[in-house]
Amino acid sequence: MNIHHNHPLKAYNTFGLEATARYFVEVNTVDELEEVLKHEELKGLPRFILGGGSNILLTDDFDGLVIKNSIKGMELLREDDKHVWLKVGSGEVWHELVMYTINQGWGGIENLSLIPGQVGAAPMQNIGAYGVELEATFDSLDAVNMTTTEVRSFAKEECHFGYRESVFKTTLKGQYCIVSVTFRLNKQPTFNISYGDIKRILDDMQMWEPTVKAVSDAVIKIRQSKLPDPKVLGNSGSFFKNPEIPKTQFEALQQYYPLIPNYPAPNGLVKVPAGWLIEQAGWKGKRVGNTGSHAQQALVLVNYGGATGQEIYQLALDIQASVQEKFGITIVPEVNVV
Ligand code: EPU
Repeated sequence: MNIHHNHPLKAYNTFGLEATARYFVEVNTVDELEEVLKHEELKGLPRFILGGGSNILLTDDFDGLVIKNSIKGMELLREDDKHVWLKVGSGEVWHELVMYTINQGWGGIENLSLIPGQVGAAPMQNIGAYGVELEATFDSLDAVNMTTTEVRSFAKEECHFGYRESVFKTTLKGQYCIVSVTFRLNKQPTFNISYGDIKRILDDMQMWEPTVKAVSDAVIKIRQSKLPDPKVLGNSGSFFKNPEIPKTQFEALQQYYPLIPNYPAPNGLVKVPAGWLIEQAGWKGKRVGNTGSHAQQALVLVNYGGATGQEIYQLALDIQASVQEKFGITIVPEVNVV
């Protein structure tokens, strides 16, 4: 086990921000993780589990221990006529998993193609895109208790999935490190192509009978046309969650803005796209120093190069304040601010 001191994190966050970790350790197995958690020199330090670094905003150096999760591996646990159960190490790259399942012809996560990050982050925030959320194919996961180092299995009901939410972001926050995720994938896939442009792109491809590969290709096409590639322009995907507001508040807004996009949400609430609110508040494509709101998708904040985490955070606060002022709606970050 290699313990690095004052380790640079620039290569480990997709915003491309300069920051250091007082201690940094990479773990490749569950045993190595347990060893780190029990290590005398590292005991009592604040800890942060780092996956793909695609959903974090580092506003400062981290005065503690960063554990880089590189726990890999895939295992076919069982199968029947309709399904396969695939157990995947949490340090696998998400998109590589999606490509693997597509090559096998297994359905369920093709709409989640090209989402950055690692497998362990997927249940953490119940990743979602184009009408599909992780929970639909989620079976269970194993996680290590960071205090006792015991491994615990979590069934789906125990994860309390919601919109970009799980128990690992709320009541159990910081208490567990997810080490593997088991998916139940479909051998006879059905498709979810009703969202946005997917159907149109499939029609353009003359794909009258969709396949997992074709749906994945369509999703990749949409994402590449709208979302900046973090290797080219630092970003963390959607910066804010889409707010859910009471129906009465929505109807009042609709009087002034008849074209306001909206989707039904649980408990009679209405989900309004934060990207639309931010665009209406005048931020889309606007640059402030080396930061800005992306020209194709206002919800994505970008680092044009050389920005600090504090500057991006300040931009986020300014955007939040102006959406609050214009619409009376509070938008909250989806990205973890560290
Ligand atoms: N819109 C605007 N202006 C903008 C951006 C969006 O008016 O600048 C409008 C669009 O016209 C559309 C609506 O807002 O009517 C929704 O836009 P889009 O389909 O691009 O999706 P989103 O709600 O902005 C969510 C997820 C994305 C996911 C897409 C597609 C959240 C926070 N974001 O974005 O996830 O890819 O749907 O399913 O829920 C992420 O989480 O990092 C992420 C990229």
